[in-house]
Amino acid sequence: MRTQVVIVGAGPAGLMLGRLLQQAGIDAVIVERRSGDHVLSRIRAGVLEHGTAEVLRDLGLGARMEREGFVHDGVNLAFLGRRLHVDFADLVGRPVIIYGQTEVQHDLYDAMDDRDVPVVDEALDVTPHDVETTAPYVTYTRDGEERRVDCEWIAGCDGYHGVSRSVIPTDVLRTHERVYPFGWLGILSETPPVDDELIYANSERGFALCSMRHKMLSRYYVQCPLDTDTDDWPDDRFWEELRARLPDDVAAELVTGPSIEKSITPLRSFVAEPLRHGRLLLAGDAAHIVPPTGAKGLNLAVSDVVYLADALADHLSGGSTTGVDQYSESALLRVWKAVRFSWWMTTMMHRFPNASDDFDRKLQEAELTYLESSEHARRAFAENYTGLPFNPPS
Ligand code: APR
Ligand code: PHB
Repeated sequence: MRTQVVIVGAGPAGLMLGRLLQQAGIDAVIVERRSGDHVLSRIRAGVLEHGTAEVLRDLGLGARMEREGFVHDGVNLAFLGRRLHVDFADLVGRPVIIYGQTEVQHDLYDAMDDRDVPVVDEALDVTPHDVETTAPYVTYTRDGEERRVDCEWIAGCDGYHGVSRSVIPTDVLRTHERVYPFGWLGILSETPPVDDELIYANSERGFALCSMRHKMLSRYYVQCPLDTDTDDWPDDRFWEELRARLPDDVAAELVTGPSIEKSITPLRSFVAEPLRHGRLLLAGDAAHIVPPTGAKGLNLAVSDVVYLADALADHLSGGSTTGVDQYSESALLRVWKAVRFSWWMTTMMHRFPNASDDFDRKLQEAELTYLESSEHARRAFAENYTGLPFNPPS
């Protein structure tokens, strides 16, 4: 088989890139290790930046999001027993949209069926070859048979544990990493959300987040030690701990019920560079990871592939290499700002174990009370949370 671009991975980055390329008249094939059902069942975050929502609309994928998503004009930060509302509408004039990544993934998958970008699922041993030449190819095994796809470019959209990043020689690839000494224990429950908007809570007992998917589906998290076992957290214990981390007036409103999902997420910041090696280009979680505190993971995957699709279209339709040459630098400029925001928010909102004195705690209080007292600070928060522009002046 021959195509212009082989996309490795059918997560949000891979599917969206496929769709963007198809709109630009470029042929692509997506090869995915897991089954379609598996890919569609993963539960991830649920906040779409304003710019992400715009991209989905431009791609003709906005209809269900408009119908079933919720426009949020702000978020709440809870600390010292009180609540600060950050009003996005007022501060930056743009909202975020609450719409689960699982739903985005569904919409993208359905669009692929419609528009005929082949998605080969259950492709085993996917391997990029000859990326340092102008004739790269990808091999994989399906139904026990080895297959080969020749192409001009390979897009590594295969997530943090994918194969693509490992193709870049170790003396070329640089990685930057921060591992946080805690995780998030999260549940989904078919109960009404405790508030109309999200609440990020910094408490003596650790961080908590009240989020939602829709009117009768809540998503809650509590910070937990890394070695936490979900078996040790029956629902009653989770609800009790969550309540204890929320301001009293919020805790009093919490409606509890059986969880329908319970899982643990470790927190890490990670950036690999460069994002291009020869004819291989990395995008999304294959290139970077952020802790979920700023809800940036999916949004960064989207901005990467918007840059990448433009760059590939320039090259494949007109022969210009400027876009592909600049892809790594322009994408990373935005990535690092989101890495900074996610790190900052994580640091401000969590309890760090082993802190030897209360210096860090006092700094957190200073950050939070500064946000409370300064509209400038809140505007900077709102600007970052709702999403920085895709093409800032450099
Ligand atoms: N071969 C083929 N496919 C692979 C391989 C491989 N060796 N390894 C991984 N994959 C697939 C995975 O099964 C998955 O479907 O690549 C896809 C990567 O998808 P994601 O992990 O969702 O990454 P990405 O598309 O970059 O999306 C980023 O997802 O993890 C969240 O927080 C993150 O929201 C962000 C978004
Ligand atoms: C979620 O709803 O799962 C969610 C929301 C906001 C975050 C992280 C996760 O920052």
